[in-house]
Amino acid sequence: MVKSFLTACALLFAFATSAPAAEKFPSHPITVVVPFSAGGPSDAMMRILGERMKVTLGEAVLIENTTGAGGSIGVGRVVHSPPDGYTIGFGHLGTHVANGAIYKLNYDLVTDLEPVVLLPSNPMIVVSKNAVPAKTLPDLLGWLKSRPQPATAGTAGAGSASHVAGLAFEAASGVKLQFVPYRGTGPAMNDLVGGQIDVIIDQTSNSINQVRAGTIRAYAIADSKRVAQAQEIPTTDEAGLPAFHMTLWSGLWAPKGTPRDAITRINAAVLDALHDPATRKQLENLGLEMPPADKSTPEALGAWQKAEIAKWWPIIKAAHVTVD
Ligand code: MLT
Repeated sequence: MVKSFLTACALLFAFATSAPAAEKFPSHPITVVVPFSAGGPSDAMMRILGERMKVTLGEAVLIENTTGAGGSIGVGRVVHSPPDGYTIGFGHLGTHVANGAIYKLNYDLVTDLEPVVLLPSNPMIVVSKNAVPAKTLPDLLGWLKSRPQPATAGTAGAGSASHVAGLAFEAASGVKLQFVPYRGTGPAMNDLVGGQIDVIIDQTSNSINQVRAGTIRAYAIADSKRVAQAQEIPTTDEAGLPAFHMTLWSGLWAPKGTPRDAITRINAAVLDALHDPATRKQLENLGLEMPPADKSTPEALGAWQKAEIAKWWPIIKAAHVTVD
């Protein structure tokens, strides 16, 4: 009897000392897939956050730009990645809502992904190349309507935020635009500054430094309130197009089945970054708005995404967007 008890203790001790301790997450760098070009608004926001997240996580946050098809290729890369927390994806209204109403995706935006955290949002802005003979939004609308051919509008591809905003701008203004797809609004901005395209219905964070530098012209912020860091730019309400409001929300998602512990750690690292004064200042300086505190959980992002799908899919499907 005593002999079997001692044997059992010995076995238990052997097991306790041999079983590897639950591996601390993360134990090596995390990759964030940004589905748009480097240098654009999504990339800029994620790089600023990543610099601070690595302090909380104790591991580097690597940015991988996997672009194309309005961001749906980058999202697919995340869906098909191992659900271990080491590959997650940046996204927004375009990639995690609109694309589901436009592309035949080989994944489901809700059931194949785990929401991690809501990120800062970005009011959209109407900007043009400097050569456009207009100083106000009514002048711009007059010029756009007077043209024999539709003006060219840079986007990050069908379904991207700049495309969805372009569709909403057309619906609100009655103007028709010729959309010119890029792999991100970073390269589209280069062509706007160069005068190769006429306008972008852009994210404020992507345009604000070019507007400050005087290399492009801004007409209105698509919101009811001005952007604190660009008080000189009127709202669409003030500029005569009150029907056009759009603020782009963004988030992080992980592959379906990613351990809860990993999601919780990444969520906490983002919240730490958003509360870090230096990081927050960098983000706000781009015109970004911090997400509401009551929407900081993974569940809150999941619920918000579902609500936005219910709101936007009928609108986008009604626009009969075709993709080659
Ligand atoms: C980008 O980072 O290029 C944008 O998020 C693209 C877009 O959706 O307009």
